[in-house]
Amino acid sequence: MTTELLTPDGTERAGELIRQGKLVVFPTETVYGLGADALDPGACRRIFEAKGRPQDNPLIVHIYDRSQVDLVARSLPPGAEILMDSFWPGPLTLVLPKRSAVSDVVTAGLDTVGVRMPRHPAALDFLKAAGTPVAAPSANRSGKPSPTNFAMARSAMEGRAEAIIDGGQCETGLESTVAAWTDTAAGRGWTILRPGAVTREDLYSVLDDLYLSQESARDEGLLARSPGTRHPHYQPRAEVRLFSDAEELERANAAGCYQGWAVLCAEEAKNAAETGRGPLLVRSYPGWIALARRLYSDFYELDAAGVPGILAQIPTEEGGISDALRNRLLKASAGRLIEI
Ligand code: TXA
Ligand code: MG
Repeated sequence: MTTELLTPDGTERAGELIRQGKLVVFPTETVYGLGADALDPGACRRIFEAKGRPQDNPLIVHIYDRSQVDLVARSLPPGAEILMDSFWPGPLTLVLPKRSAVSDVVTAGLDTVGVRMPRHPAALDFLKAAGTPVAAPSANRSGKPSPTNFAMARSAMEGRAEAIIDGGQCETGLESTVAAWTDTAAGRGWTILRPGAVTREDLYSVLDDLYLSQESARDEGLLARSPGTRHPHYQPRAEVRLFSDAEELERANAAGCYQGWAVLCAEEAKNAAETGRGPLLVRSYPGWIALARRLYSDFYELDAAGVPGILAQIPTEEGGISDALRNRLLKASAGRLIEI
């Protein structure tokens, strides 16, 4: 298959391809998505083939206007409108009761559908041109880190999708926050199924008593409802190991443990990273937001550079982007820590 490479001026063409049942890779402020007409089960089935994705992992439906919510959602739980008013367009996916027009292919047989309005201008133009809700997972091959720039999107999907829109580097660099309404004997409220750039403080500040902490939800086993959280994810080829404190890294370097490896860290750990017979390559960032933005593209570039492993610094404090970054790093490393 030949893949048309489009600039953000090419969103009309991309929209036309969607209406023809084709696949289009498009940028969002989080990561690039692999889109198809959400109301066309045949087109959506091709997404799973292109990604090599397990069929039990549902897709997020993308819209550009609030009027499209009704096309896919049957009803709105309490607080849903507050969340849309507060965080759309933006990196928040809401799990809503689905309409029957949305096929089981999209929702993996669930009675709910994840809906999101992205804020990347090229994404909004593209969704408007498509004129139909667009189902899209992240545009990576299944299990790999999500593409956060055009080069990564091409490398993952050229020859597998009919078009790719170049939207440059993604702003957030981590996938959207996924939130679902829960109503059980144990509690009632919106719970975060996957942390992202819209944080729990953000949700709590607008929802108040319509917010249900993840801890309460976990007690009830509700998190098993987000099938994507069960699959291996976000893993580069290089082995990833985590450290939190610059001193651990300094000790590992002094012992010569990780020669030839790369380090991803916050600025304050940079000096420690460069001590001893330490790693080959150090990429440091002025803060966690900056590190999160570049995490997946660094994984990609470091894999291309052939490093055997990556030592990544994990934030220990709660809140902000730290929750999302910690979540992705724990998956990328399968929980492996630096060892001396
Ligand atoms: O930022 C993002 O969300 C990106 C861009 C392209 O929008 N998309 C993305 O999609 O990350 P994907 O398919 O890689 O991840 C979707 C996540 C999965 O963890 C999936 O299980 C969950 O959302 N999800 C989707 N629909 C759901 C539903 N009805 N109930 C519970 N979880 C759902
Ligand atoms: Mg994904």
